[in-house]
Amino acid sequence: MARTAQAVILAAGRGTRMKSARAKVLHQALGVPMLEHVLRSAQSAGLDPVTVVVGHQADAVQAAFAGRGLVFVRQEPQRGTGHALQVAREAFEAQADRTLLVINGDVPLLRPQTLEALLETHVSSGAAATILTVDLDDPGAYGRVLREPDGQVRAIVEARDASEAERQVREINVGIYVFEVPLLLPVLADLRPQNAQGEFYLTDLVGLLRAQGHTVRAVKTPDPMEALGVNSLGELAEASRLLRERRVADLMAAGVVVEDPATTHVGLDVTVEADAVLRPFTLLEGRTHVSAGAMVGPFARLTDMRIGAGAQVLDHCLLRESVVEAGAVIGPFAHIRPESHVAARAKVGNFVELKKTRLGEGAKAPHLSYLGDATIGAAANIGAGTITCNYDGHTKSPTQIGAGAFVGSDVTLVAPVTIGEGAYVGAGSVITDDVPAGALALGRGRQVVKPGWAEERARAREKERAGKR
Ligand code: UD1
Ligand code: MG
Repeated sequence: MARTAQAVILAAGRGTRMKSARAKVLHQALGVPMLEHVLRSAQSAGLDPVTVVVGHQADAVQAAFAGRGLVFVRQEPQRGTGHALQVAREAFEAQADRTLLVINGDVPLLRPQTLEALLETHVSSGAAATILTVDLDDPGAYGRVLREPDGQVRAIVEARDASEAERQVREINVGIYVFEVPLLLPVLADLRPQNAQGEFYLTDLVGLLRAQGHTVRAVKTPDPMEALGVNSLGELAEASRLLRERRVADLMAAGVVVEDPATTHVGLDVTVEADAVLRPFTLLEGRTHVSAGAMVGPFARLTDMRIGAGAQVLDHCLLRESVVEAGAVIGPFAHIRPESHVAARAKVGNFVELKKTRLGEGAKAPHLSYLGDATIGAAANIGAGTITCNYDGHTKSPTQIGAGAFVGSDVTLVAPVTIGEGAYVGAGSVITDDVPAGALALGRGRQVVKPGWAEERARAREKERAGKR
């Protein structure tokens, strides 16, 4: 960028058309608030400082973006986009030498490259203001861009204030503007709420600058998608879909196999290495990382997970805040809860739940288990139906299972308890005492066999019946 520019993001509006109690810019697209998308574009374009105008649910918006180095300005009441910029005046006039970018907070598809291109054109043309536009087949409720014969922008007119002829114009105002602060300041105070909504329109600044003899230019982006302003939940869903598709397309371009882009959701801060395979209906959220050769899905949801090279997360798994190392196999139908660690080549099978549990290298828990607060050594085998009783209604207690131990099916391990290395625990045992390394532990009622019992019982019944007759 030629020189440093600053930004004001407008995020105070009520978002009436959302019909929702939540502030519009806090509604999420691709797992983060809409404002987060705009903010990232502004920050990656190097804009500094970034001032955010907040109003409706200001506290909630400020709290969601605290500690991000932003300047917050309150607009109370919200009297339109022009009023929002007036309220931010003190913040941006402090840096009057810095070109000002004004960005509507409800345009989440905006790319940083587009901001950079807009700024470059603005600076090299020497205009007083430059606006971003796009041609739409259906310009709907967007502001129409009216041009002079020489291509300069004459005015922006809101759809509801436009004449029939003006409404035919297909070039619309995206809601992203560049201003030279010293030229903006004198006209900013001249805005008047003389329009259908009785609001102060930022868009009227174009006409005011023109009246002063200044030049206003437009940069037309070729991508109609970028222009989508989110005003309703329907538009939010559309923006989310477009963001999801864009994200998945970027991953595929980088060598990730995405079997069904339409049903694959990959959050903004997720990283996926080339040659990983994402099967249909896979959701990767938070700071999840998937390594090369790993395969995830179908129907899997991973939040803040690290998946090692070549690991497999099979159908219908929910995994959170844990690590799965290279070559491990998870699922189908597994639930991995926070702070778990599945070491290389270990296996967590169907209907197995892990919580704060380490499963050692090559260890296996193939079926129907709850393993909580447990540390399980390498190559240990956990039989079907094994349960760690880690909670007595009061405190959580740990279970240790040594390397190479063999825990039979349907074993109840009452924690705190330790099973030594290479020890065996018989099926159906309730284990309340530690088992030394190499020992066999049995904790169950001894089986009793009574030969011929059934026949004896039948004879006794027959006799009883004969007596009654
Ligand atoms: C605005 C533009 C329109 C453009 C469209 C692009 C005006 C008058 N119109 O219309 O030309 O085509 O965006 O999407 O600007 N806001 C405030 N304070 C307020 C009002 C709004 O901060 O008092 C914020 C909103 O939170 C929102 C942004 O400004 O992020 C735009 O407001 P919105 O009401 O959505 O304007 P549009 O009707 O979409
Ligand atoms: Mg809008």
